[in-house]
Amino acid sequence: MIRPLTQDELRAEGETLGRALPPRTVLAFEGELGAGKTTFIQAIVRGLGVSTPATSPTYALVHRYRGRRGPVFHLDCYRLRSADEAADLDWEGLLAEGDAVLVEWPERAGPWLPAPARRFRLHHLPDESRRGLEAL
Ligand SMILES: Nc1ncnc2c1ncn2[C@@H]1O[C@H](COP(=O)(O)OP(=O)(O)OP(=O)(O)O)[C@@H](O)[C@H]1O
Ligand SMILES: [Mg+2]
Repeated sequence: MIRPLTQDELRAEGETLGRALPPRTVLAFEGELGAGKTTFIQAIVRGLGVSTPATSPTYALVHRYRGRRGPVFHLDCYRLRSADEAADLDWEGLLAEGDAVLVEWPERAGPWLPAPARRFRLHHLPDESRRGLEAL
């Protein structure tokens, strides 16, 4: 099911999800450029108790936030030039330390991506003010 959501609705959805997220969860976010993955992830990050918005440089592959229960990692795998580069990421360290590991463009990490507990896909819709949220 693809639910059409305004930006405010998508953010509210993300915050709710973040507040209820079990510890040490890996989530994956698919969808085309500009579909709303980062918007959704940032709301989840707020729900995990992160109050300081990202000051990380936009080119960073791994963003680290200080969440209520521990570090929260946001990986933007769009930055990977090949799946082999994903092998160099310290996935075990992220999983061991992270309260949550939120992975954008997971398909770019290929087989290196740890199994996500849940996968989402964001969709562009004909109504440009809404994005489709699909739980895969
Ligand atoms: N309903 C909506 N939900 C989310 N974003 C929306 C919505 N309506 C408009 N937007 C806009 O669409 C853009 C979504 O950008 P965002 O960075 O979240 O996408 P993305 O999927 O992470 O893209 P990229 O693949 O380039 O990283 C933002 O500029 C946001 O303001
Ligand atoms: Mg993004």
